[in-house]
Amino acid sequence: MNAFSQAILQWYRENGRDLPWRRTRDPYAVWLSEIILQQTRIAQGTAYWHRFLERFPSVQALADASEDQVLRLWEGLGYYSRARNLHAAARQIVAQGAFPDTLEGIRALKGVGDYTAAAIGSICFGIPAAVVDGNVYRVLARHFGLATPVGTTEAKKEFTALAQKLLPPGEAAAFNQGMMDFGAIQCTPVNPLCLSCPLQPSCNAFRTGRVEMLPVKKAPAAVQERHFNYIYLRCQGYTAIRRRGPGDIWQGLYEPLVSDTRPTAAIPLRTGVRHQLTHRLLVADFYLWEASERPQLPEGYCWIKETELDNYAKPRLFELLLEAIP
Ligand code: ADE
Ligand code: SF4
Repeated sequence: MNAFSQAILQWYRENGRDLPWRRTRDPYAVWLSEIILQQTRIAQGTAYWHRFLERFPSVQALADASEDQVLRLWEGLGYYSRARNLHAAARQIVAQGAFPDTLEGIRALKGVGDYTAAAIGSICFGIPAAVVDGNVYRVLARHFGLATPVGTTEAKKEFTALAQKLLPPGEAAAFNQGMMDFGAIQCTPVNPLCLSCPLQPSCNAFRTGRVEMLPVKKAPAAVQERHFNYIYLRCQGYTAIRRRGPGDIWQGLYEPLVSDTRPTAAIPLRTGVRHQLTHRLLVADFYLWEASERPQLPEGYCWIKETELDNYAKPRLFELLLEAIP
């Protein structure tokens, strides 16, 4: 085995994190952890992982749930397409009769990309597939002094091939999780712990003084700003909401009245509320409209009891509106 991989495995044995999904090889539990962790920090993700397993202890239970129930439990994690895909994939698995045990089979599940397929495949089935994510890019770029800009097709090819070549036979699960943890704990984005690093003697970036310069990043896309007027309409204990359709953010979640113009009948609650999504900054103004008689609702809206709002999955911005109501 090459010295790099040996060092990662040894580092992992000594420093690997004791995470609850590492105590099982049940592909359902591991898959769930990987989907949750795609865009979520471990501390927050862990609580959701336990909650999901408790509520939906098996793929069958998850498949039997409605999309709304799954979205509701997912609320607060963001990136809701992950929850919709999770639910759709559970139905795929049930239709197939068992959790797939090949890389291609796992990769064919909705919401599972190369990274997630390699993680599940190696952890649950010992499949020799290397994971390649931000941590892996960083560790490899620094240790081997690679300056190909991350996020390009070329980098994906180059780093995948290298990670795959380094993967020690029979140790895919430990190596992959070792790389994740090494990138999260030792070779961190800022202030990596080079002085205590077992790879320091062979690290190209350390030797050439380029630790801060690697990995090379492509210039990020400019963030777009989007403005919303959110109106909480209240009429005799009822309020108006609608379910958002496909083709935009928050598909399947519920929202209050939305207006392009400043509503005349409503009183302002808060203005300029900022909410950051990945590629967009949302800026919202919140209003309260107390009507004594029910106005005609726009297309798609329905009346629900205010006391039943809890039963609907809402984007964070809607929750903020509710918190702003006196
Ligand atoms: N991030 C994504 N997958 C992970 C895993 N299996 N362990 C720790 N962090 C992760
Ligand atoms: Fe990362 Fe520093 Fe170790 Fe190199 S020496 S692998 S940059 S922590």
